[in-house]
Amino acid sequence: MNWLTNTLWSSVGKKLMMAVTGIGFSVFLVAHLAGNLTLYAGKDAFNAYAEHVHSLGPFLTIAELGLLFFAVVHIATGATLFYQNFKARPVRYSVNSRAGGRTIGSATMPYTGLVLLLFVIFHLANFHFADKTNTTIFQIVASAFLKPEYVFIYVVAMIIAAIHVSHGFWSAFQTIGANHPKYMPYIKGASILLSLVVGIGFGCLPIYVALMT
Ligand code: HEM
Repeated sequence: MNWLTNTLWSSVGKKLMMAVTGIGFSVFLVAHLAGNLTLYAGKDAFNAYAEHVHSLGPFLTIAELGLLFFAVVHIATGATLFYQNFKARPVRYSVNSRAGGRTIGSATMPYTGLVLLLFVIFHLANFHFADKTNTTIFQIVASAFLKPEYVFIYVVAMIIAAIHVSHGFWSAFQTIGANHPKYMPYIKGASILLSLVVGIGFGCLPIYVALMT
């Protein structure tokens, strides 16, 4: 057991945990977006989808607990890696020298990650923990997006999610060893595609709901 904790808490182990949990989140995001796309089909389709998800009962609880566990691991390892990198930096840069290969996504990972954490807390309070007596999930979502400030927060958060995913997805595959020169261009392409799907797919939803209700 000690061996396992030492391995997981080594530098490579932490990066591996970030990668595995990050890929898990990507799968969740695609599934969550697929479900939310029923909003385009109207309130009955969206409510029926939500009812179907809730009818999964204990399976849903297990999936939610798994997601929470992944979030705790991802945030704890991410924060530790950020702190260790920060401490190991010998001198603070006086100019922002962008080292070769750095992108907006890679340079901002801890900050976009922190914003996403705050967004998810806000989002769960809006929808997941909302009082669902005498109302429907569509009604809850529609009332939220009637407020322009909510639409603004969601759209900005989705752009930030897209930036986070644009680096996180390919970086996770690189960490797990899929960094063969032959496959990397495809993985980077998939990363850009996923970030566009997340940014545009989720980002258009609040605007559509606001305009249609
Ligand atoms: C416009 C975009 C989005 C909409 C309309 C939306 C809608 C919803 C709704 C209605 C629920 C509550 C389901 C229920 O309790 O019946 C929910 C749950 C959730 N959402 Fe979103 N969501 C969006 C974007 C996101 C994003 C970008 C993330 C992650 C970064 C996210 C993460 C979650 C999580 C973790 C839950 C809780 C899942 C569960 O416990 O079952 N959502 N979302």
